[in-house]
Amino acid sequence: MDNLLKNKAEDCLSPQNFWDTLPRPIIGLAPMDGVGDQPFRYIQKKYGNPDIIYTEFTSVEALCHGDWQSMLNLLYDESQRPVIAQIYGRTPHHYRQVAVLLCELGFDGIDINMGCPAKSVANGGSGAGLIRTPDLAQQIIQAVKAGVEDWRNGVSPADCPNISAAFVKHVATIHHQLPAAYQARRAIPVSVKTRIGFEEPVVDAWIPNLLEMEPVAICVHGRTLRQAYSGQADWDQIGRAAELGKGTKTLILGNGDITSQADAQRRVNTYGVDGVLIGRASMGNPFIFHKETDAPEERVSGALRSQIALEHAQLFEQTFLPYGRYRFIPMRKHLAWYIREIRGANYLRAKLMQTTNSQEVEAILRQHSVLTDGVYQSLLPDKAALTPA
Ligand SMILES: Cc1cc2nc3c(=O)[nH]c(=O)nc-3n(C[C@H](O)[C@H](O)[C@H](O)COP(=O)(O)O)c2cc1C
Repeated sequence: MDNLLKNKAEDCLSPQNFWDTLPRPIIGLAPMDGVGDQPFRYIQKKYGNPDIIYTEFTSVEALCHGDWQSMLNLLYDESQRPVIAQIYGRTPHHYRQVAVLLCELGFDGIDINMGCPAKSVANGGSGAGLIRTPDLAQQIIQAVKAGVEDWRNGVSPADCPNISAAFVKHVATIHHQLPAAYQARRAIPVSVKTRIGFEEPVVDAWIPNLLEMEPVAICVHGRTLRQAYSGQADWDQIGRAAELGKGTKTLILGNGDITSQADAQRRVNTYGVDGVLIGRASMGNPFIFHKETDAPEERVSGALRSQIALEHAQLFEQTFLPYGRYRFIPMRKHLAWYIREIRGANYLRAKLMQTTNSQEVEAILRQHSVLTDGVYQSLLPDKAALTPA
């Protein structure tokens, strides 16, 4: 711990910044608790290829109490890079230690959640609760940057007093399996995802408060905490955040209610953001990330959607079955999302909602011939169709 306390955040060097290498505008997959687990992210990357991917938010306090369910949120594979671990909490010294752990796990970046509206999170002062405690929000960014710098200077999870011996061992095993470049003690960038306010929009005060700490990026969801997910995202407020970010080292991403690739591009052009994150519209629909055509989703056959549903179910099983407290139920909602565009979706959905494993999913999809309807179409855009006559 001595080492851990040695480096002051002001001493932090600028991180190796994968953000600089991303295409513009950046179109990324938003973090989604209860949805964005390892198999979901794998499928999104494979079939949609978002520019960046975030894990589900994970509590720094839970990680520091040795909670294995929280550790499962942090599973990822090499195909997902650049992959950003999102964390939340309210205790700077826990953040600092978890930053060391995330560096050891080989993540490309760390994102701090300052936007979650759930009472269980915000009422305790974490997530969007931090909008009410701007000083603490700054301390937290500083603590995460300091943790990254600790790691770069040789601190390991074993040096962190609140990281359990079992986690130290688990993380070391993963670390040694990483490609050499990700085992290197590099500094990784720290970003923030937040909302436009708590009760009312406070962008003009809140965003400069974050900018002072020079996070590499701030993603702004255009709703207040009070709105939760109701009403419409206020993109004028997001546009204001983008203006405030101009001339700083921080990228500003917008988020909220994007429904298609064309919509994403339009909002980037209208509101001057460096990119966007897409959340709900990606559920069962990784094709939303295809940049080549306006509406590639419409070109995807029911057969392909069903094949992906089955692949996802199989991956879900492979990923989580080995761990305790395994349940197939969280997979069912994904099945419903994949097949919603297919003819007879209501009937099929009712059956899929009863499944308890991937074999049952396969049997139902085969029984209804949706895996092989013979209308498979390439995911790639039809170049001929795109070429002007
Ligand atoms: C089921 C669900 C879980 C979410 N979990 C998180 C989370 O863990 N971290 C986070 O920053 N935002 C989370 N969000 C918010 C989304 O990242 C995003 O800001 C919000 O859904 C608005 O974007 P959208 O309209 O594209 O979905 C979640 C949203 C949903 C619907």
